Amino acid sequence: MKTLLSLFCLVTYLTCALSANGWPVSLDMACNKALSAVACTFEFTNDANENLYLLKRGTPLEGLISRFITVSVAGSPIEYDGPFVHRLPPTKDEFVLLKAGESISTTVQITDAFSIDTDGLYTVQYSRPLQYLSVDEMSELSNGLIMESTVQESIHIYLEDTRVLLKPRGPEETDKVDYTVNIESCSSASFVGGTAANNKGTLDAHKKLCSGIDKVNIGNNTLYVKWFGAFTSARETKVKDVYKKIRDGLAGCMAIPGKVSLRFMFVIFFIHFLFLVEALVLTPRSLD
Ligand SMILES: *[C@@H]1O[C@H](CO)[C@@H](O)[C@H](O)[C@H]1NC(C)=O
Repeated sequence: MKTLLSLFCLVTYLTCALSANGWPVSLDMACNKALSAVACTFEFTNDANENLYLLKRGTPLEGLISRFITVSVAGSPIEYDGPFVHRLPPTKDEFVLLKAGESISTTVQITDAFSIDTDGLYTVQYSRPLQYLSVDEMSELSNGLIMESTVQESIHIYLEDTRVLLKPRGPEETDKVDYTVNIESCSSASFVGGTAANNKGTLDAHKKLCSGIDKVNIGNNTLYVKWFGAFTSARETKVKDVYKKIRDGLAGCMAIPGKVSLRFMFVIFFIHFLFLVEALVLTPRSLD
C-alpha cells in the first residue's frame, strides 16, 4: 500500500513538475474521419503567464503546407505527400498574438498530404517544435531570435474503409499560373498577368537583388567557404561565372529566349537571395 501510495505521489509529482517546468505553449489534438477525409483539429494554448507571439509558419495555423505531423500505421510511418516550401526568415506578420491563457485552434484534412489506404490503427504525432517570441522579444526578430517550444502530443485513431478516402493531389498542370515577367533592366520589368501588388513586390525584389549583387565579395573568405566549399581557383572561376550569369540575367542583358517564367526567376532569386541576405544583412563587416 505504501509502495502504491509513493508511486502515486511520484506520478503526481512528475506530472506537476512537468507542467510547471513545461513549455509555454501546449497542444491538444483530435482526429476524426468523415466520409472521404480524415480531419485533425489542433488547439494551441499559451500556458505562460505572459502574452506570446506564436509563429504560424510550419504549423497547421497556415494550413497543411509543411510537415508538422508524422502519421504511422502499425508502427510504419506514411510518406508525406504535401507541399515543401522554402522560405526566407519569418516576418512579424506571420505570428499570431496568443494572450496568456488563450487558445487558438484550427482543423486540417490530413488526407490532403498523407495517402491513407490501409485499414488499421493510426498514430498521428505532432513532430515539430513550435516557435514563438514574447512581446518584448519581438523586436529581436530581425536579429534572428526565435524561441522554440516542444510539444509532445499524439493521438491514435482506428480507420476503416480507407479505400474511399481522398488521396493527396500531386501538382497538376492546372496549378500553373499564367504569369510571366520580362526583365528589361535593373530597374524595370513588364508583367503579363498577376496583380498590381504582386508585380510591384516582384519588381522591388528585383531592384534590390540587382543593386545588391555587385556588392558580393567572391574571394577566399569564410562566407565563400560556407556556401561553395574550399576555395580553389578553378572553383572560384566557376562561381564567378555563375554570378556573372545571374547578374546579366538580373540586369536583363542575358539573351533570354521568349519570356522568363516566374519559376525560373524564383529559383534565381532564391539562390542568390540566400547568399546575399547572409552577405549583406547578417555579416556586413565581412564584405569590404
Ligand atoms: C584560403 O584561406 C585559407 C585560410 O585563410 C588558407 O589556408 C588557404 O590557403 C587559402 N586558399 C587559397 C587558394 O588562397
